[in-house]
Amino acid sequence: MTDVTRKTILSGMRPTGKLHLGHWTGALENWVALQDAYSNFHLVADYHALTTNLDTSGLYQNTIDMVIDWLAGGIDPEKSPVFRQSQIKEHTELHLIFSMLITKNRLERNPSIKEQVRDLDIENIAYGHLGYPVLQAADILLYRGDLVPVGEDQLSHVEITREIARRFNATWGEVFPEPEPKLTKFARLPGLDGKDKKMSKSMNNTILLSDDTDTVWQKLRKAPTDVQKVRRNDPGRPEVCLVYTYHEKFNPSETEEIAEGCRSGELGCVDCKKRCAARIDSFLAPHREQRARYEARPDMVEEILQDGETRARRRAEETMHAVRDAMKLG
Ligand code: TRP
Repeated sequence: MTDVTRKTILSGMRPTGKLHLGHWTGALENWVALQDAYSNFHLVADYHALTTNLDTSGLYQNTIDMVIDWLAGGIDPEKSPVFRQSQIKEHTELHLIFSMLITKNRLERNPSIKEQVRDLDIENIAYGHLGYPVLQAADILLYRGDLVPVGEDQLSHVEITREIARRFNATWGEVFPEPEPKLTKFARLPGLDGKDKKMSKSMNNTILLSDDTDTVWQKLRKAPTDVQKVRRNDPGRPEVCLVYTYHEKFNPSETEEIAEGCRSGELGCVDCKKRCAARIDSFLAPHREQRARYEARPDMVEEILQDGETRARRRAEETMHAVRDAMKLG
């Protein structure tokens, strides 16, 4: 149930299918940790997926695969509604109103759009793609979110959301809070191809939360380590090693010993990777078990979404009433 004395958190993710360790450290871990202290709404940004891919044939399955990872990772749908943006019509309504409150120029200055269209001609970007931060503002403000857990790359979108909230309130009266970003503690997790690239599906450098024991080992086995450590007993530099970063995150109690072994040359890379794979695997084991439970019951996942959508819709309708009242629309 939504509790008016608690602050509201709106968290969202595009439905990209099965999640990886980067999603865990960068977002999901944080969502789970926050669910007791706040009133949370967990949104599947399925309309946002259209900005980069018009092929909707995989959208439903990608949604289910992602939602199963949320649930297996510890999101409790009784506490916090889990829902699809496309099932709540109020998103499109609020998006339209918000689109009057921001200039084209402002959207073109958005650094994350700039990054996405670096190789494209700005004239060729879809209207809805340029405006996707406006849809995101509607996602957040429809639930009157006070806080939005995001990584650095989404800060500019929260800023746009705040500007739109201010503009609405100044024009038609106080309806919306000005949401604050809640930055995730752990910086982006590097991908399997090297320390300076983020783990991401499009880079094909991920360990999935659903990977089995052998897959985890096969992936980690090939990961690059310190190039100066060529032979087993050569001294290495943990601070430049990708595998050491994974130890820091998933094997904190042994990092010191691993670092010493690496520096002295006593610990070889193969053994170090084996220990890392074992730790990651034992972290993933309960997740896989939970995952299997939901995979066996697609009806249960569908029911969770429908229940979440009913609850989310209730809040969305309340907000739209307040919006229409303030604007004297009907
Ligand atoms: N734009 C976000 C992304 O690309 C996804 C998203 C959509 C979102 N709506 C949101 C994130 C609302 C936070 C809040 O990752």
